[in-house]
Amino acid sequence: MTKYKAYFFPLKLWTILAATSSQPAAALERLLTPGEFESIRHELQDDLQHLPFNPDKETRNWPERLLGEKLYSDNNLSLQRNQSCATCHQITPAINPETGQPYQAPGFVDADNVEKGTPVSDGSVAGAFGALNAPSAGYASFTPPFHWDQTQKAYVGGQFWNGRASTPAEQAGGPPLNPAEMAMPSKAAVIERLKENAAYRALFWAAYRLNIAGLLSAAETDVAYNAMGKAIAAFERTRSFGPFTSKYDYFLAGRIELTPQERLGLDLFNNKAQCASCHVSAPKKNREGTWTPALFTDYGYDNIGAPRNLDIPGNPEPNKGLGGRPDIAARDPQGLEIGKHKTMSLRNIAITAPYGHNGVFKSLEQITHFYNTRDTLGRVADNRDPGFGIKGWPLPEVPQNVNASSIGNLGLTAQEEAAIVAFLKTLTDGYPIWGRDPRVSSNDPGPYER
Ligand code: HEC
Ligand code: HEC
Repeated sequence: MTKYKAYFFPLKLWTILAATSSQPAAALERLLTPGEFESIRHELQDDLQHLPFNPDKETRNWPERLLGEKLYSDNNLSLQRNQSCATCHQITPAINPETGQPYQAPGFVDADNVEKGTPVSDGSVAGAFGALNAPSAGYASFTPPFHWDQTQKAYVGGQFWNGRASTPAEQAGGPPLNPAEMAMPSKAAVIERLKENAAYRALFWAAYRLNIAGLLSAAETDVAYNAMGKAIAAFERTRSFGPFTSKYDYFLAGRIELTPQERLGLDLFNNKAQCASCHVSAPKKNREGTWTPALFTDYGYDNIGAPRNLDIPGNPEPNKGLGGRPDIAARDPQGLEIGKHKTMSLRNIAITAPYGHNGVFKSLEQITHFYNTRDTLGRVADNRDPGFGIKGWPLPEVPQNVNASSIGNLGLTAQEEAAIVAFLKTLTDGYPIWGRDPRVSSNDPGPYER
């Protein structure tokens, strides 16, 4: 326990330091020393019986879960009956374009983007495109609700690149009505589609005691629509969306070691490259004494200085992220949140290209090189320049609040960048199968299962 006091206390100290510096507060986590990291890892190993980490996340209401599962993949929730959540957050592995073989695990992103390198998704209506890259729906339900953190003096949590939906249930209500996505005209129109399906009528009743068959008032339509979001969120909380079966999890649990290159990458990630100050790599002990394995995000918001992506159809204006939300802008007269996007989890990151909110980075090698050399490589005009990422980087698409303290000039060698990429590849789930590791049998249930 005493170790933990020492671990939490300097966090506050860091906040004070960050708040008094002239930079807008950026990384929310203090970097751990190698000794602290190892001691947390060993404490977790001694305490594996306090996993699964978040028992209340797994719903006991099976009709709700089953309803959510059906809704998640139902094309009838889109205007042209051609698109579901699963279209853009695929629950089966995408195809690795280099090998033509399926990836090791589902990435819960748009497989079209992964397979063709396109940055954004097609909508239900032909010619409609979003302006942002679809992030993974995997591990998304671990994100805390959107809030202002009094201690950190920063916005934390929420769903979407700008956090505008506080919870997964609220998030799930967005896409069906988004004209660039599923494009339904109204909540009532969505409920009409649900009514067509006898299984839905039965499951809404079984899960929520809601009768969706009859004529619904506006208020009842809202209740049914919100219940739909709750059901989808319940499905997203199931283990398939957060299996914690990556190579890194087996390493954290003490079952295997990393290769020397992966281990170097982890050390760089935690120290010299400062990645872990935002993409938290250590497991966390919760207040109730349970553990949550590392989720590779602090759920904060930052502007890493990503260049504009001219390959997005329609060349939309750069996205202003958190500070572009009218509700945040109203409370942010100095514009300190403009250009900041959610720090996404890096779990399964090797199988969810392209990267960043606008998908401007094609590969892990490229984005790692960007973190390392954003401020030192030189300048090219835009991301279509053949020298992009080789001769130089374009200017940040949103110049305000670019993080200059822990990003842009890391002094990593080419070997060190390669080691970080090798480490990131250990975050892919399904290690019992893809690892072909004699220490972990192919039907191993996962390093944290008891
Ligand atoms: C046309 C493609 C498309 C469809 C269909 C779609 N999404 Fe998304 N999803 C996106 C994009 C793009 C974003 C990021 C948008 C933003 O941040 O404004 C996103 C964001 C999310 C996030 C936020 C993840 C995070 O960590 O913040 C979740 C969760 C999610 N979608 C789940 C769903 C669910 C559930 C459905 C079905 C009800 C759905 N999506 C339908 C493209 C899609
Ligand atoms: C100051 C906080 C911070 C630090 C330090 C940081 N990141 Fe990030 N990272 C972010 C944010 C914020 C985003 C989303 C940015 C965007 O899309 O504009 C992101 C996005 C990413 C993505 C793409 C995620 C996706 O779903 O597309 C990868 C990969 C990544 N970071 C890896 C790294 C690595 C490797 C390092 C260390 C070399 C690092 N990050 C350091 C905050 C940080």
